[in-house]
Parts: sequence; structure tokens; C-alpha cells
Amino acid sequence: MQFKQAIYTSLLSLFSLSIWAEAPLIIYSHRHYEADEALYVAFTEETGIPVQVLKAGANELMERLKAEGASSKADLFITSDAGRLGEAKALGLLAPIHSEILSTKVPQAFQDPEGTWFGFSMRARVFVYAPERVDASTLSTYEALADKQWRGRILCRSSNNIYNQSLLASIISADGKKEALSWATDVRKNMARPPQGSDRDQIRAVAAGLGDLAIVNTYYVGLMLNSPDPKDREIAQKVKIFFPNQSGRGTHVNISGGGILATSTQKENAQKFLEFMVSDFVQKSFPLNTFEYPVVRNIAWSDLQKSWGTFKTDPLNLAKLYEYGQQAVLLFNMAGWE
Ligand SMILES: [Fe+2]
Repeated sequence: MQFKQAIYTSLLSLFSLSIWAEAPLIIYSHRHYEADEALYVAFTEETGIPVQVLKAGANELMERLKAEGASSKADLFITSDAGRLGEAKALGLLAPIHSEILSTKVPQAFQDPEGTWFGFSMRARVFVYAPERVDASTLSTYEALADKQWRGRILCRSSNNIYNQSLLASIISADGKKEALSWATDVRKNMARPPQGSDRDQIRAVAAGLGDLAIVNTYYVGLMLNSPDPKDREIAQKVKIFFPNQSGRGTHVNISGGGILATSTQKENAQKFLEFMVSDFVQKSFPLNTFEYPVVRNIAWSDLQKSWGTFKTDPLNLAKLYEYGQQAVLLFNMAGWE
């Protein structure tokens, strides 16, 4: 249903952009932020290249690309997780990109070592907690959430979510498979309720007192604080953010990024789009509109992000998220984390 609606929307945008002489750049995107529409418009204004976007889940988009095969009209694949980009690469869907701009502006950890995908925004998977029930001085690492003191207090979404799979992949990489399994088993035991809902739902549950601490991406707090819904704004004001593993490897981060499809007939224009995504204009827009972090150095954060504080990021090359992601799915199943 959502998929059909997305096709309808993109057909409409194709129609409205048909005045452009150039063939539209066709983007399959898993990103779901309204603010992205303004970036597409800005790209077309700057380059004269019209854009047609099909929005759906990463799995749906990959299934569609597989089904379309060589006859696919899509030029770019954009996701909100490096694990999915790694999967697209493994499926042979992505073409190598040779761009000085991308390879120098995007930090090494946020680009595929073989150059098939590049990150353009960063997100951190952190703790959100109720300050009246959690003493911040007791917070330290992801690993410490396995401790018995957290029994019945933790909130997190289900393991079929890619953000959790990537988090566990980073823990496998740091601590090994055995430790990662016992971590997932113990954290599952410590949950206040069976895993369910979205990251926003975990924040709501902390504010409602259903649990004391949730594992979520930072930008959801930003989106809720700036929501048109006053209830969400009130809820988000009740919680605080903690960046785990600051005295060790750093907080687990992920990227939203993209790659050029192997079947694209407009690879040059597709590359221009990815380069546009790391331009100062776009990089400055992420902290203000989606509350994601920029990937390019020396781009100012929003005041809200500054208020959360600076933090050390796990330096793991995010290509590893796909490598360990499949193990992560198995470990979640073994741990009983639904
Ligand atoms: Fe998200």
C-alpha cells in the first residue's frame, strides 16, 4: 500500500518535472524525510537534472531491482543504513564510483573500500533515558546494559530492524561472536516489554514510565522535539541522551548513503547527485532539518546537537556492518530477541 502510494507520488513528480529537457535521474530511496524533497529541488535547480524518486523500504527496493534486472530504469539506490548498501553491493546491484570529491570529503569509515557506496549523513545509536529514574553517572557502555541492575528496565525495537542488526554487528566486531550472543541474550532478559514499535515508540515508552532506558537513534529525539504534534514535543523534553562507550571504542554510528546502480545509463549524472549530497549546502541542511550529523568535516552542527554534546564515534569501517550483519541476525534469533 505504502509502496503503491510512493509510485503514485513519483509518477506525479515525473509529470510535474516533464518540462525539463533532460531525462530524469531515477532514485530508489529508503529515506523517509520530508526535508529531502527540498534537496531534490535544489539539485535540479543547480544542475538542470530532473529527479524522480521512488520511496519504499530497502528490502522492497532491492527486491524490485532484482526483479527489474538489466531493464531497470533506476540510477541510484539510497538507504538509511550501511548494512543495506553492503547487501546491495553483494547482490551486484552497485557500480564502482571514481569521484575525487566523494573519496576525499567522506571519511574513510563511511565509504565502501571498493567505492561502490558513500555515506552522506551520520546517525548515532545512543541511550535515551528518564533522568528522574536513571543516574547518568551509572551509564557507560552498550555492554553494561547486560548487567542485572537493568532487569525489566530496557526498551528496544525488534531485531528485524536494520539499526539493531548494525548495532549488534558492531558489537560482534568489537567483542567477538560469543560475547555478542551473551550480550543480546542478557539485554533481551533486561527488557521492560517484548521488543516492538519504532525508535519513536521507545522514546514515548521511556517518557510514559514503561521502562527507564531505550536504545534509539539521536535524530528521532530531534524530530520529536520539533514535531507539529505537541504531545511528541512534550515527550521528547522528558528524556535525556547518553553517548555510550566514550572511554572505549566510541558510540556506534551509521550512515545514510547511496550508490550508483550497475544498470544505470546516467552514471555521470548519478555521481553528480552523490557529490551534491556532500556539498556544504546539503551537509548544512542535515543538522537543521533531519537532525542527522554531517559527514563532511567543519560543517556546523545545529544548536540542538551541540546541546547533546560532542562524542567519539566507533571508527569501524561501516562495510563491516554487512559482513557481520548476517551473523547478527542469527545471534538475535539464538538470543530470543524477537
Ligand atoms: Fe530512521
